[in-house]
Amino acid sequence: MKKEIKVGFIGISGRGSGMLGLLLQIEGVKVPAVCDLVPERAQRGIDIVESAPECNYPVHSYLDYKELLEREKLDAVVICTTWISHLKIAIDAMRKGLYAAVEVGGAASVDECWQLVRTAQQKDTHCMLLENCCYDRNEMALFNMIKKGMFGELVHMEGGYRHDLRDEIVLGRENIHGRLYNFINRNGELYPTHQLGPIAKALNINRGNRFLTVNAVASKSRGLKQWIKDNKGEEYDLFNTDFACGDVVTTLIKCAHGETIQLNHDCCVPRPYSRDYMIQGTRGTYMETFEGESGVIYLEGLAQKKHRWDDFKPWREEYEHPLWKEYTTEGVKAGHGGMDYLVLSAFVESVKLRQVTPIDTYDTAAWMVVTCLSEQSAAMGGAPVPVPDFTDGYWIDREPYRRGKYCVDEVCEDYFK
Ligand SMILES: NC(=O)c1ccc[n+]([C@@H]2O[C@H](COP(=O)([O-])OP(=O)(O)OC[C@H]3O[C@@H](n4cnc5c(N)ncnc54)[C@H](O)[C@@H]3O)[C@@H](O)[C@H]2O)c1
Repeated sequence: MKKEIKVGFIGISGRGSGMLGLLLQIEGVKVPAVCDLVPERAQRGIDIVESAPECNYPVHSYLDYKELLEREKLDAVVICTTWISHLKIAIDAMRKGLYAAVEVGGAASVDECWQLVRTAQQKDTHCMLLENCCYDRNEMALFNMIKKGMFGELVHMEGGYRHDLRDEIVLGRENIHGRLYNFINRNGELYPTHQLGPIAKALNINRGNRFLTVNAVASKSRGLKQWIKDNKGEEYDLFNTDFACGDVVTTLIKCAHGETIQLNHDCCVPRPYSRDYMIQGTRGTYMETFEGESGVIYLEGLAQKKHRWDDFKPWREEYEHPLWKEYTTEGVKAGHGGMDYLVLSAFVESVKLRQVTPIDTYDTAAWMVVTCLSEQSAAMGGAPVPVPDFTDGYWIDREPYRRGKYCVDEVCEDYFK
């Protein structure tokens, strides 16, 4: 295992700045190169690295990531840019033999997902989608319960990205923020993976199960136009813009073993944040409530009252994932309640070991491609669109996953003793 790794960091806006700060807190990580198209942000990257207590090395900044890849000797890159650039940059980095971590977002095309998979195979490297929700405290406790069989056989799962982002979307040019042109031009499930990640791991997708079809239906688009009318007025140049993306896009995924998944993309009307997680199995149901803080659960034969929800909090305490038990004992580091640090730590561990990442290239491709497929389906009024099998048939007989503390295919209790 390498004691020290060198990571290039690309994309230093709001998210990138936070993630860079967290990455630098992980033992054995050096960030000798940072990059952003915007010079002040590239400089911000340098400032963040240089202010880290362990920084006793020179840091170079780049405006062009290709130059960074050409000039620097790195083990990995972390990419926090925009949805349409994540995989392109990851592919270029992997062609140089580097590990790539990409921030959350949907894919820009089906073809780039194939290129990602083929590059990983040819170069014997890996791309990890930094799906932090796979490491959320609630999701991990629920995963623990699912794997213990407490929900019985899983039948249906739901999740959403319900986040009122109207100002962030509309003010994309003023703030140099990437969402705007996606909402103007694309109609589909633009941000599928926050809940799809934990769902896919619970349903063993790419390992004995797979997504078969995607059907997506989009509502009309009104919320962004209304926001512009209320907040910017007629003089604003986007006043007459028609946004392609429906305010609420509902996507259904059918799996090879019969399970169904519903995703809700909902960023353009006023509402509090929620990821709407729901698990339904033959022995019970979990449903997220209270803005995602904990939720309610009903397990047949174990619920306090028949046909009445139990608060999930005591269940979460009882079935806390060992990673979270360890993490809360050591002191949670910031970033969405702690999951950001864990997802970065999972990536760093894999790079140090030069082994497969817990969210691997096949997961990354299968989860991200849902965006492009949902666009195709929505354009055809919700018609089913087949999901490519990025494993080329190996989903029925894959090599074993790598066990360990950060494994999200199994709860590896033995690693915590
Ligand atoms: N996992 C989470 O919880 C979470 C939270 C927030 C954002 N995100 C994701 O993180 C990503 C970044 O989010 P953000 O809000 O900071 O986005 P942003 O659009 O504000 O910033 C993207 C940055 O990348 C830079 N960039 C774009 N293309 C580039 C290229 N080719 N080379 C170098 N730099 C480039 C831009 O100049 C900008 O500074 C997005 O994909 C977003 O969806 C994830």
